[in-house]
Amino acid sequence: MKIGVLGTGSFAPEKILTNDDLAKMVDTNDEWISTRTGIKERRIASADEATSDLAYRAALNAIDNAGIDKNEIELVIVATMTSDHFTPSTAALVQDKLGIKAAAFDLSAACTGFIYAFTTGYSFIKAGIYKKVLVIGAETMSRVTDWTDRGTCILFGDGAGAVVLGETETGGFISSHLVADGSGACELLVPAGGSRTPASHETLDNKDVYLKMNGREIFKFAVKVFPETVENILEQANITADDIDLFVPHQANIRIIESISKRFKQPMEKFYVNLHKYGNTSGASVPLALDEANREGRLKKGDKVVIVGFGGGLTYGSILFEWSK
Ligand code: COA
Repeated sequence: MKIGVLGTGSFAPEKILTNDDLAKMVDTNDEWISTRTGIKERRIASADEATSDLAYRAALNAIDNAGIDKNEIELVIVATMTSDHFTPSTAALVQDKLGIKAAAFDLSAACTGFIYAFTTGYSFIKAGIYKKVLVIGAETMSRVTDWTDRGTCILFGDGAGAVVLGETETGGFISSHLVADGSGACELLVPAGGSRTPASHETLDNKDVYLKMNGREIFKFAVKVFPETVENILEQANITADDIDLFVPHQANIRIIESISKRFKQPMEKFYVNLHKYGNTSGASVPLALDEANREGRLKKGDKVVIVGFGGGLTYGSILFEWSK
């Protein structure tokens, strides 16, 4: 049985925050942000938009693109690190908004979340438990961003992307590689607000309920693990980077993507990039990029596609699949 992507969708909030806007909030400027990251602007959810709202809109687009009846979906997985609540899951809220009967759960693997969720959705279908799975990556990173910290607030943005997975006539999933290394947890975390250190006046005053990151360490980590995971999935399939038609990497920093393009001796045209428009949308970044690549006609039936994620956990991973549409 071949299992692949039946359709893609995405959604980004209307409000645009440019580098020039940020320069009015913290000591930074467009030139610094552009040259160090490639990011020009990002989207910010409105006060009444939460992660499930973005996820729902991306899901509707993916269902429409797949050309299926929404009632065919039997499982909804939402990869997110910015869920609406501790409980219920964001996926359950999306299931309700869609008005379907389906199992639903969230998956937490930060910026690698969509890679984990895609592999999980594939596995449910492969095991014969479900026929069609809706896999969403959705984030409102603006809600965990310290808007006074120029080291992090320039990087992140809000958005959502989704795919419908199901049986396909051709192509589909080829190989996957997922890794976690919790020894690096402290390099990228929200220190308070969980069971270790519940939210309090003190944690709020210390801004410990916002994302803290060791940018240099994360950069080194990304440049090391990105090639490692891609080499793994290529080896599993006994092919080389030359055989790949499109890489859709996590949209964290253009310098990370450029270093991988050099390392694999592949032209930058083979790497889909939209981080200049959205910044780093964590778990949403890969499906948001995949959907834009699909809608721009960058994917043809038979194309070999690699999607890659890395980030908090620390986690990383990748998937190789063949475009079936
Ligand atoms: N604007 C202007 N200057 C800034 C700045 C900003 N927004 N942020 C930091 N700086 C300053 C620093 O204070 C430092 O000044 P100093 O040399 O006087 O001490 C200088 O710029 C260099 O800082 P550094 O942190 O070394 O910059 P960098 O080249 O490592 O770039 C990041 C910073 C965050 C862009 C980079 O480390 C990065 O992209 N890391 C990976 C982050 C990531 O992808 N995270 C998510 C993973 S899922």
